[in-house]
Amino acid sequence: MNMSMKSNRRRGLLVLGLAAAMCSGTLAVAQVAKAASGKQFPWSDASLSPDVRADRVIQEMTLDEKILLLHGQGMPMGAQTDTRSNGGAGYTVAIPRLGIPSIQMADSAYGVTRGAAMGRYSTALPNNLGAASSWDTAMMQTYGELIGTELRDEGYNMTLGGGVNLAREPRDGRTFEYMGEDPLLAGTLDGNVEVGVQSQHIIGDVKHYAINDQESGRMAVNANIDQRAMRETDLRAFGIALQISHAGAVMCSYNRVNGVYACQNSYLLSDVLKGAFGFKGFVLSDWGGTHSTVQASHAGLDQEQPGDYFYGDALKKAVEDGQISQAELNEHVHRVLRSMFAAGLFDDPGKTQVPNVESGYATARQIAEESMVLLKNESHILPLAGVHRIAVIGGHADVGVLSGGGSAQVDPPGGSPVPQKPGKGIFAAFIHQAWMPDSPLRALREALPGTEISFSAGDDVAAAESAASKADVAIVFVYQWEAEGFDLPTLDLAPEQNKLVEGVAAANPRTIVVLETGSPATMPWAEKVQGIVEAWYPGIRGGEALAEILTGKVDPSGKLAITFPRSDADLPHPRLVTPPASSEPQLPPKGKPPVDFMKVLGQGLPAFQTYYDEGLKVGYKWYDAEQKPVLFPFGFGLSYTTFAYSDLRVTGGTATTVNFRLKNTGEQAGTEIAEVYAELPAAAQEPPKRLVGWARVALQPGETKQISIPVDRDRLTIFDVAHKDWELTPGSYSILVGSSSRDLPLTQTLTLP
Ligand code: GLC
Repeated sequence: MNMSMKSNRRRGLLVLGLAAAMCSGTLAVAQVAKAASGKQFPWSDASLSPDVRADRVIQEMTLDEKILLLHGQGMPMGAQTDTRSNGGAGYTVAIPRLGIPSIQMADSAYGVTRGAAMGRYSTALPNNLGAASSWDTAMMQTYGELIGTELRDEGYNMTLGGGVNLAREPRDGRTFEYMGEDPLLAGTLDGNVEVGVQSQHIIGDVKHYAINDQESGRMAVNANIDQRAMRETDLRAFGIALQISHAGAVMCSYNRVNGVYACQNSYLLSDVLKGAFGFKGFVLSDWGGTHSTVQASHAGLDQEQPGDYFYGDALKKAVEDGQISQAELNEHVHRVLRSMFAAGLFDDPGKTQVPNVESGYATARQIAEESMVLLKNESHILPLAGVHRIAVIGGHADVGVLSGGGSAQVDPPGGSPVPQKPGKGIFAAFIHQAWMPDSPLRALREALPGTEISFSAGDDVAAAESAASKADVAIVFVYQWEAEGFDLPTLDLAPEQNKLVEGVAAANPRTIVVLETGSPATMPWAEKVQGIVEAWYPGIRGGEALAEILTGKVDPSGKLAITFPRSDADLPHPRLVTPPASSEPQLPPKGKPPVDFMKVLGQGLPAFQTYYDEGLKVGYKWYDAEQKPVLFPFGFGLSYTTFAYSDLRVTGGTATTVNFRLKNTGEQAGTEIAEVYAELPAAAQEPPKRLVGWARVALQPGETKQISIPVDRDRLTIFDVAHKDWELTPGSYSILVGSSSRDLPLTQTLTLP
């Protein structure tokens, strides 16, 4: 067969393939990419840098083609009517003439979302704050690899996950979706998630940039915060995540920062993100977060999502009128194309396949086992051993475990085993409480075949108390649902849940409480129960993971990435700042939103103010500075064994290494997260201490290990606003080592020039 016949045959097959594929959007998208990428272009040489390749494409592009890369195609809600969409939250179109593939985006905070709408299965991993409680950077890469693999399996090539907003406000309804209150921990863990995602040829993403720290009135709130505080906390988390991952995208947020919308805020987007951080990827707006054409373009917004209200014809006109230069337009296009090349969208287009369900289960369970935090274990009530009768109570523990809602929602396979409860907040019509079908009760019965385990739903407190009184041990499940679009009014659990715990504990002091929450929770009954385990939203194998922890098959190793305060009164803002009704978008009632639903969503809402005048004092830094006792401190978590710290030796100068010995002084193997904090010189005017390093250390009973943790200079610096740079304050530093932010038995001072 000669060349021309071969190419005709291939083209013929291709046409057939395309025709067949047009029936389902996904294949068409992938096929088009494959077809186009079959041709040779000046940018096809993969040995060229992403920047060179991007510039070569730009030279060939028309103005219209450039603009197609700078906006989405709307947000087809519900079942897919748009065959060019792969069913995710948004996409940019392919440009076959130039071999440019479509960018198919999907939310994927703790798994690929919107499965139900597309009839797809995705693995629900433990929620992000839960996984962050493992402090396990390698595990977070695995977390990202699974998400990237399943995005690719399902025909996507960009994630919209990667939330790393700091928990300034723990009642934030998306606290479950982020990585806690410390910038070093959150940034490091989130960065590793994106490393994992991008390893699967998926464009990584870090969001919501920036200071998007509450859901109430998120599209209208103006976050007032001083520059030093911003740079050393919220923005630092983004900087660390990007430094580690070189994620191809950053999503700017809905809110205003110091008076200017984040998606047209030149300080945030140009001075800090693209300037100081050297970010080379593209900035896309949150859905409906674009508010202008020329101002946003000048400020550094590269792409509007999901529609083209500002970056479609309006952008073309602004370029033709000379309000936006060709150079500025090309810069936006360059960043999008560069990220596409860097992630491998041209060279390694995906091939759809069914996700590997079994390996997803195993990964989800392993991460959940590392995420759960043992908060109390009096009289060694845990691990469960030698008990004959257990009363399991409440929390739908007979059918499943809770999951976080909103755009992060991974749809449970087979639907939620707990009938849908109505949503809350602005998305009430679109979201509902969803549970993952992995029953803690079933898992416990399988793990303890010789034990009689009863179940009471918990709505009949008397029945629950009676069951508890007849058992050796009672396990009460409590939960707090969180989702995008609304905040928790309080960290208190629902009164009926606290009443249930009180009643059961009164009926049987050998009571264990398991929490499934996305944020910290207050616990008025903490003194009255013997065991407390925070299980978070533990994912598709959360029931099994919990059974492994409760029976001691796995030693609990998780530590809190967020402080559990005693009450709302101890928070920097005891009362959550909620907006006037006029500051919330008027969403269409349930059913098909109007075509310009996203334009309506975010525009023209009157600003209301929040003042983050606690500044640098986020999380534990607040409670330390205010000398407030807490329920459970940042970095706290128990094991079934015990550990001893000794022989601290801090060596080096500005490049410091913290050396110490760690011993497992108990009877069983365990893993300790050893934590290192630094107190800066008073002249630095910093909160009492900050996390500067940690290590997860597995130890057999009686085993001792020598630990060395490097503390780079940039972990000891402060941001000097006048000099716009990081500076090391000369003076005496204290290095503190131990098992939590409030248990640091080893200290040594270090004098730095
Ligand atoms: C949502 C969220 C954002 C998400 C996007 C697409 O409003 O704020 O996190 O990625 O829209 O669903």
